[in-house]
Amino acid sequence: METTNLLEINKENLPQHIAIIMDGNGRWAKQRGMPRLFGHRHGVKTVREIAEASAELGIKYLTLYAFSTENWSRPELEVKGLMSLLVETLKIELNALKKNKIRLRAIGDLSQLPEKTQQALLMGMDETTENNRMDLILALNYSSRWEIMLAVNQIAQDSKSGSLQLPLDEAGFSNYLSTRGIPDPELMIRTSGEYRISNFLLWQSAYTEFHFTSVFWPDFTKQHLYQAILDYQGRQRRFGKTAEQLKI
Ligand code: FPP
Repeated sequence: METTNLLEINKENLPQHIAIIMDGNGRWAKQRGMPRLFGHRHGVKTVREIAEASAELGIKYLTLYAFSTENWSRPELEVKGLMSLLVETLKIELNALKKNKIRLRAIGDLSQLPEKTQQALLMGMDETTENNRMDLILALNYSSRWEIMLAVNQIAQDSKSGSLQLPLDEAGFSNYLSTRGIPDPELMIRTSGEYRISNFLLWQSAYTEFHFTSVFWPDFTKQHLYQAILDYQGRQRRFGKTAEQLKI
């Protein structure tokens, strides 16, 4: 692959928030005649490289879709393997997160995760809560429709109890989502040649730029990340306006 020079990236026009749908671990493993978990293990190496590269660049929020509410329907062995991999990775990487001043956060229904996974996550989040270089947000047992339904029900309850005045504006609605306080992603990347959003950050991605690559997640490197950012920087973000209006 042609290497993308880091210097080509305009540091003045970085996305604050990058969201990634990490896809293709299974196919990557299959190509090598290996079980799917082998792909996930290699996917963790990519997570490390991309988190490090993002923090070095000055990205403030990196959200990774690690496990969707639909992923429970995968073979039991794979689900168990993914959960153990998560616990193992969190334990191994905690020091690196602390050293690099990265804050670990999570979005999703964590209460349904195995006890050990919840504990490892809570410990990781607790011990990095003061870090402010970059937020690494893991979407775990997450889906947008789950999140939106939760918000709608909470809003109904708060309105009924009188603690919320209607009508609610967009910012008010955003405060009911699990991404409360986190700016919307300017760039979303999906690997492995799939062109879907798969129930990820539906509300938050209203004006997000998308970058799709056919590279499987275990093969995704920081060079690919730089390419995605350059692609983003070449786009004209119009937010519904015309190109002429933006020149004024
Ligand atoms: C998608 O590939 C990948 C996942 C659903 C899991 C991603 C998990 C990791 C990279 C490891 C754990 C993560 C962290 C943050 C430590 P796929 O299995 O859907 O691949 P396929 O589409 O080729 O089958």
